[in-house]
Amino acid sequence: MTTATAHPRASRPHSAPLATASSSVAPVRFEIRPLDAPLGAEVIGLDLSQPLSAAEFARIHRAHLDHHVLVFRDQRITPAQQIAFSRRFGPLQVHVLHQFQLPGHPEVLVVSNVVEDGKPIGLGDAGHFWHSDLSYKERPSLGSLLHARELPAEGGDTLFANMHLAWDTLPAALQRAVEGRQAEHTYLARYAELQQRSPWRPDLTPEQVAQVRPVLQPVVRTHPETGRKALFVSEHFTTRIVGLPEDESRALLDQLFAHSVKPAHLYRHRWQPHDLVFWDNRSLLHLAAGCPPHLRRVMYRTTIEGDVPR
Ligand code: SIN
Repeated sequence: MTTATAHPRASRPHSAPLATASSSVAPVRFEIRPLDAPLGAEVIGLDLSQPLSAAEFARIHRAHLDHHVLVFRDQRITPAQQIAFSRRFGPLQVHVLHQFQLPGHPEVLVVSNVVEDGKPIGLGDAGHFWHSDLSYKERPSLGSLLHARELPAEGGDTLFANMHLAWDTLPAALQRAVEGRQAEHTYLARYAELQQRSPWRPDLTPEQVAQVRPVLQPVVRTHPETGRKALFVSEHFTTRIVGLPEDESRALLDQLFAHSVKPAHLYRHRWQPHDLVFWDNRSLLHLAAGCPPHLRRVMYRTTIEGDVPR
């Protein structure tokens, strides 16, 4: 999925050097290494089991805005430490499928294909379609953090699509057709379809349905921290563009979906043990590629609340 050619995100800032010591400021001893892809950077040498200093946090925050995905290698962290780090960026969101909360830690969604005593321990088909987390809420997610607890020997990758690039490279006629428009996002859009083919989609209670009423979001959003525009529609949750006839809306959405996930916009993350991956839902879509069903995959996700998209 990655290529060796120059990537169109070339305008983004490059990584800072390993240490940024000055006479009065303590050195920040970790490396941010951009990936050979249209998004993403590895963070090497930072231990997230320890609280971050203000300078370390500022550097991570900046890198997250610049690269959209940060891959923290070899993080031997507990769920409480994952929660504490996630909370530095904002309040956490609790997933509507409370069945898959980590016991004792409702802020952690277990993403897993493992079934124990006939019962799934987590949401096994999370990320089956391209999406931005919680775009079906009035305040969708700022970002999500996924920690690898158990990885399959084969498969299990996660793909990310750069939605700033998707907007920047969208043909002008399509940009004109969608700019200023709103689209409906619905958690239930493909729920029945998923329910039919997997054991991970329980019938929702009336309380759960009330938590996921359809919302309207801008088709093109402006990132609240960088000011960059991004396409904000997904095949999982976006059902229609408001104000267009159904067939026109469907055709336009199909074009936007196909354009968004062109190979030139993608990074494919191949997980290593103890990776913690932190992505920006305001800048990206993501997709779980899946793995053979007999191989165990266990991941812990925390989800940070973001702004109302504009
Ligand atoms: C998700 O969509 O949050 C899950 C992604 C994954 O399991 O790779």
